Amino acid sequence: MTTKPDVYITRRLPQPALDIIAAACNYTLWDDEARPVPRDLLLRAIPDVDGVLTLLTERVDAEFLAAAPRCKVVANMAVGYDNVDLAALNARNVLLTNTPGVLTETVADLAWALLMATGRRVVEGHTLITAGGWADWSPMFMVGQDIHGATLGIVGAGRIGAAVARRARGFAMRVIYHNRRPSPAIETETGAAYRTLDDLLREADFVVVSVPLTDTTRGMFGAREFALMKTTAVFVNVARGAVVQEMELYEALQQGRPWSAGLDVFEHEPIGADHPLLTLPNVVAAPHIGSATTATRTRMATLAATNLVAAVTGQPVPNPVNLETIG
Ligand code: GLV
Repeated sequence: MTTKPDVYITRRLPQPALDIIAAACNYTLWDDEARPVPRDLLLRAIPDVDGVLTLLTERVDAEFLAAAPRCKVVANMAVGYDNVDLAALNARNVLLTNTPGVLTETVADLAWALLMATGRRVVEGHTLITAGGWADWSPMFMVGQDIHGATLGIVGAGRIGAAVARRARGFAMRVIYHNRRPSPAIETETGAAYRTLDDLLREADFVVVSVPLTDTTRGMFGAREFALMKTTAVFVNVARGAVVQEMELYEALQQGRPWSAGLDVFEHEPIGADHPLLTLPNVVAAPHIGSATTATRTRMATLAATNLVAAVTGQPVPNPVNLETIG
């Protein structure tokens, strides 16, 4: 008779993560890498499990928890956990874990990829060529914004914001940041200077958003904020789509303030080809790939697996989110 805990995994994960779980647990999983588990199947799969490993495609709420009355832990394979109703978990004393740290540098790389592609019109140029539209060379053809020597404004001075700021040194940029409260860590490490959000938006040539999605940050960028930005400014979002009021961004970009936007995240993902923002030439869109490298996604999966196993076997958990609240 087995005494191993029972867990459910909502997606086929890289093998090293499954190996970690298999060594300590009996697991069942939604054996598909590309598509999320349908909600009804998920709810039917979890009545007897001790823990669940989730992705940000799963809504973890009171209904989910009611369907999993024995569940002690939700191990989310992401640093963000806005897909999780934390109050519902706290009410049932269910532990939440996330995967901070292992994806920081990778997301910062992608922020820079968007910043550079958007500022220098790389995607627009590619599209122009493939459409047969490159007619000639001319002095002001496809001119963009200088990155070197510009002012970088980071909104959200957590791990990812600091990693984005560190990269600015190589481009001789001046770095300013806004955060809920000033962060001596980012100031010491990168020389970044604190600004109110409004001052940052007025001053920055490139604005990179790396805040978590919370009740406070939801919709924090709307018409008022875009109107403060420069007509040459580039807006980059690698946080969550819902921190931006998308239709207000659409209108602002149409009016040329900000000048352009590089977006890895959208309010309702996945977006379709008919999304209004995609009709604008000054938008570069990516399909939520901030942490998407082989090494980093594997590290995230193994860290989520380690958190899950630790929680269901009563070991110290590396990345608890609500340990203090659930006591
Ligand atoms: C991805 O977006 C994450 O939060 O890890």
